[in-house]
Amino acid sequence: MVEPVTVRDVLLDVQDRLRANGIDTPELDARLLLQAAMGLRHEDLIIEAALSVSDQEREKLEAMVARRLAHEPVSRILGRRAFWNADFEVTTDTLDPRADSETLVEGVLSHVDRTKPRALLDLGTGTGCLLLSLLQELPRATGLGIDVSAGAVETARRNAESLRLADRVEFMEINWNDLTPSGSYDVVIGNPPYIAAADIADLAPEVRDYDPLTALSGGADGLDCYREIAALLPAVLAENGLVALEIGAAQAEDVKGILGKAGLVVLQTLTDLAGHDRCIIARWMRV
Ligand SMILES: C[S@@+](CC[C@H](N)C(=O)[O-])C[C@H]1O[C@@H](n2cnc3c(N)ncnc32)[C@H](O)[C@@H]1O
Repeated sequence: MVEPVTVRDVLLDVQDRLRANGIDTPELDARLLLQAAMGLRHEDLIIEAALSVSDQEREKLEAMVARRLAHEPVSRILGRRAFWNADFEVTTDTLDPRADSETLVEGVLSHVDRTKPRALLDLGTGTGCLLLSLLQELPRATGLGIDVSAGAVETARRNAESLRLADRVEFMEINWNDLTPSGSYDVVIGNPPYIAAADIADLAPEVRDYDPLTALSGGADGLDCYREIAALLPAVLAENGLVALEIGAAQAEDVKGILGKAGLVVLQTLTDLAGHDRCIIARWMRV
């Protein structure tokens, strides 16, 4: 057998190996890894299909392919994930941002006047992708992102720096149960861990083995964090403050019930691109 040496050959070889190992997006993954190994853009790969791949580039690629064959997501191998309008650094301490979470960003933007100054609070910020995406869209807004994970907070800070948003955002390592009442946030957002403990073992290896457990596990029924957050909301929300929480596809009724019991008025359930319930929008109206 002839050793693959051109971009085209190497791509086909990697795709075949990924496919044979049950990776469900072999073409895309092979392309992204080869682009990274060679420092090329997508369009360069197409134009340069006959280009030779050097031994050094092959070595770099093989190290990345081995990680993908062990089901590590491409975003973790590359250390970056595209979300909304930017690229976010992803680390072992953060959830890998999901495209479905853009539903929450869209939902908040549809309820907020972009020209007004707004204070945002992000509960469980991870990479900071939700808060930083909103700050990009709301030029007069400021934000606080909190997370119980020190590594996540450091990652979010670096993402804020590279997006030039550091002057409008702060990140703090703290458990949301320890937040002091402030009554000053116009918008509270969060994508809390919502997988039921018993379901964790059945998750795809890309999720189960690589996303931090503190970003996944929502307790016995998956709803623990919603109960904690609902108890906190009246203490941190400003009058008429807006809440947007990401939910699991089957959790809308439960989460609406939890928020309603805490005195919030549920406005909307938003669906993601696949048509699954993905985000609850509510408002805090003091009576
Ligand atoms: C599902 S991840 C969401 C991360 C990010 N917001 C996103 O959408 O990609 C949930 C985050 O909540 C954090 N977290 C879990 N329990 C927490 C708690 N009690 N207080 C603060 N943060 C918590 C986790 O460390 C994790 O970063």
